[in-house]
Amino acid sequence: MMKKYLPLIYAGLVIGLLMLAAATQQPKPAPASVPNFGMTLPDNYRDEFSLYLVVDRPDRTVRFVYAAPDVVEAVQAGEEIPYGARLIIETYDAQTDLVGNVLRDSTGHLIAGTMQPNIHMIEKRDDWTVQQLPTPIGVIDWNFGSFDAQSYLPSTENRNDCLTCHDNGAFRRDFVFSRPLLEDFVSEGEVQYLYCRFPGRGNCI
Ligand code: HEC
Repeated sequence: MMKKYLPLIYAGLVIGLLMLAAATQQPKPAPASVPNFGMTLPDNYRDEFSLYLVVDRPDRTVRFVYAAPDVVEAVQAGEEIPYGARLIIETYDAQTDLVGNVLRDSTGHLIAGTMQPNIHMIEKRDDWTVQQLPTPIGVIDWNFGSFDAQSYLPSTENRNDCLTCHDNGAFRRDFVFSRPLLEDFVSEGEVQYLYCRFPGRGNCI
């Protein structure tokens, strides 16, 4: 009598074990070289954030700066940048012609070509842990993240440099260098343009 049901019991056991294995399977841990500083680059920021600033420099770079909707709303309302705020900056090499002269659009601005390897983001939160911040000295509201422009995964670029430069140059603007240009964007409704005569990330604002 029992014998008849044995294959069924056996099959049930196998299915049960398979389900258990699937349920307890751990998500693949990120490769050791991917740092975890508690920030995630939003997939769709180019659609959901506002492009408010373009910066051209003599070293043939073009930067695009984006603000999340809640940042724009806060600036519109004349309020402090709220917790949860995120701002993103991308760097491109300017396009050149075959002999290496930079190309310009009809307004004389550089034309963005290949994107540089890292996308940078700052994020304001009141619950960063010391381990997530670039430096354990002083807990601040803003964290700094660098992400691979292809995979969007966190990259190993030195984040202490971010903090040092933003702290030196933009401390009084809540760490946001381009705050005045964000205000102009909000009041004029137009993407702001800045030609900065310094190469690298010298500050012109
Ligand atoms: C040597 C100075 C310097 C360093 C280092 C630096 N930045 Fe900036 N950053 C600037 C300046 C200046 C601007 C204003 C835009 C411009 O002129 O390109 C800016 C703008 C930004 C913005 C747009 C919001 C704002 O503040 O205007 C973000 C986001 C940002 N940086 C993130 C980072 C991150 C993340 C790092 C490190 C991986 C970093 N920055 C390193 C100088 C620096």
